[in-house]
Parts: sequence; C-alpha cells; structure tokens
Amino acid sequence: MGMNMRTLFLGMLICGLCEPIMGAAPRKPVDVPFQKNYVPSWASDHIKFINGGSQVRLVLDKYSGTGFQSRGSYLFGHFSMKIKMVGGDSAGIVTAFYLSSQTTEHDEIDFEFLGNRTGQPYILQTNVFTGGKGDREQRIYLWFDPTKHYHSYSVLWNMYQIVFFVDEVPIRIFKNSKDLGVRFPFNQPMKIYSSLWNADDWATRGGLDKTDWTKAPFVASYTSFHVDGCDASSNQSTQVCGTRGKRWWDQKAFQDLDGLQYRKLQWVRKKYTIYNYCTDRSRYLTVPPECARDKDI
Ligand SMILES: *[C@@H]1O[C@H](CO)[C@@H](O)[C@H](O)[C@H]1NC(C)=O
Ligand SMILES: *[C@@H]1O[C@H](CO)[C@@H](O)[C@H](O)[C@H]1NC(C)=O
Repeated sequence: MGMNMRTLFLGMLICGLCEPIMGAAPRKPVDVPFQKNYVPSWASDHIKFINGGSQVRLVLDKYSGTGFQSRGSYLFGHFSMKIKMVGGDSAGIVTAFYLSSQTTEHDEIDFEFLGNRTGQPYILQTNVFTGGKGDREQRIYLWFDPTKHYHSYSVLWNMYQIVFFVDEVPIRIFKNSKDLGVRFPFNQPMKIYSSLWNADDWATRGGLDKTDWTKAPFVASYTSFHVDGCDASSNQSTQVCGTRGKRWWDQKAFQDLDGLQYRKLQWVRKKYTIYNYCTDRSRYLTVPPECARDKDI
C-alpha cells in the first residue's frame, strides 16, 4: 500500500468512527417580565409597562426617544426578545437591539431596524465590532412585515461563533477567526441594550426620508425578555465564564450551524440581502479574512 492509499484508508477508518457534526437550535427562550433582566437606561418616562412588565412599549416623540439595558453583564450565552416594530410611517426611526461592552476597545453585536414610509420595507442592519473595530455591516429585508406581529430576535454567542437569529432563521454568522488574526469577543462582558430613536439623518434611503413628527408618538412593543448568559459582573466570574465546556452553548451542537441552518442562511443571502461588507469590493480591495474562509457569511 502506498503512502497515499494508507492515508486514505486511515482517513476512511477514522471518519467511520467520527460522529457527524450536528448543529442545533438554541434552547427555547423563556418568557419573563421586563424587570427580571432589564432596567430603563434613559428617558424612563417614555417606557410604558403593560401586564406587570410582561410587555413594554417604547415611545418616541419629538422630545425624546428611550432605551433600556440588562441588569447584568454577560460573557457568552443566548439572548432574545420579541419586538413589534413601529407601524405606519416609521421613516427616519431606528429600533436597536444590541450587546455592547462599552469599553475603549469595545465589542458589540448589533441589530438595527431602519423604519420606512408606510407600506415600504424595513431594513435590518447588523454589525459586529471587535476590539473597537466595526465596518462589518450587512443589510437585509425581512420576509415578513415586522410591524404586524411580534417576532423573536436573538443572539447566540460562544467561543466558536456569534449567530444572529430572526425567529428560527440564522441571518448571520460571525465565526471565531482568531487563527486568521481577526479579533473575536471573548474577554469583555457585554450588557444587552435596546433603544428607539430618531436617526433621520441616515436611516431611511440614506437620510432622504425624514421623520414625520405629525405622526408621533411612535411606539415599538416588546415582550419575552429572555436572558440565558454567563453572568460576568465581577472579575472573578469573568474568568469562570471564559472557561470552556461547562455551559450548554459550548457543546458541539452549538459550535457551528447544521446543514438546515446553513440552507436557511443561504436563502437569506440569495433572496433578502441588500448589502454585505464581505462582497463590497469598492470598500475592501482584499476580502476580509473572516469572509474569505467561508462563502456563506
Ligand atoms: C424604504 O423603501 C425604499 C423604497 O421601497 C427602499 O429603497 C429602501 O431600501 C427602504 N428601506 C430603508 C430603510 O430605506
Ligand atoms: C477588575 O480588575 C481591574 C484591574 O485588575 C479593576 O480595575 C476593575 O475595577 C475590576 N473590576 C471589577 C468589576 O471588579
């Protein structure tokens, strides 16, 4: 047997014993009231509580927007909330759901929902900052009207990947590409934030469509404030959270997407993607390393 044949034979043997890599959906979120995990961060008079906080409404008027943040700081986990976006004429308005370390060289994971004129589609813009560097925007249209019903928006974050989900559909994956020299968020705890504000200088058709204040107040509704993360509010706990293997999100099933999830992601790329920094040759003459490795992202 030649060397190549031997390697092939060995490879077949090993692969026969190998478990297939299985992906899985994150744990089913639990509906908990707002107060369990969150507090208002600014203009608390613009947040309305319903049913003892099982739902909240964020209100934007010409005086103020508003926002809230998680009580705890987290290093890895699964975070989700259900949101019903501002309906009708929402041009100029941005609703955001993001994780951020708020440090000098900050890590951040962003969902930003850009409103539009009545009947025109919202845009969902996502971004990932690592060590203070962002410039990784992706923009998609949604396959539903996000103002009609609640939909869940979530982030799965472990040492291997960051996945953005809309309902059960992974719309973006940012893999740990440390081996390619790309920083990955792994040691700075993040809080979870949401806010509603006026961004009519850029949000809708690049700032062409201005907020129509005669339609104010603008209201976004929230429910199901699920947080299942490693609490890293002290230095000691941060170290514990950084230790691999203990939590459900570290298991094999959550280290990569599975075949069905990749097909869903490809469906989003083919049918709904408007902009992807990975394919923007006028901006990046050389393909960013994390994009070059993986055609799906
Ligand atoms: C708003 O609608 C216009 C026209 O359909 C579209 O070009 C644009 O992408 C939509 N979204 C935003 C946020 O500008
Ligand atoms: C963590 O440690 C750093 C320096 O060792 C210190 O500046 C900081 O205050 C500590 N943070 C907490 C939450 O204990």
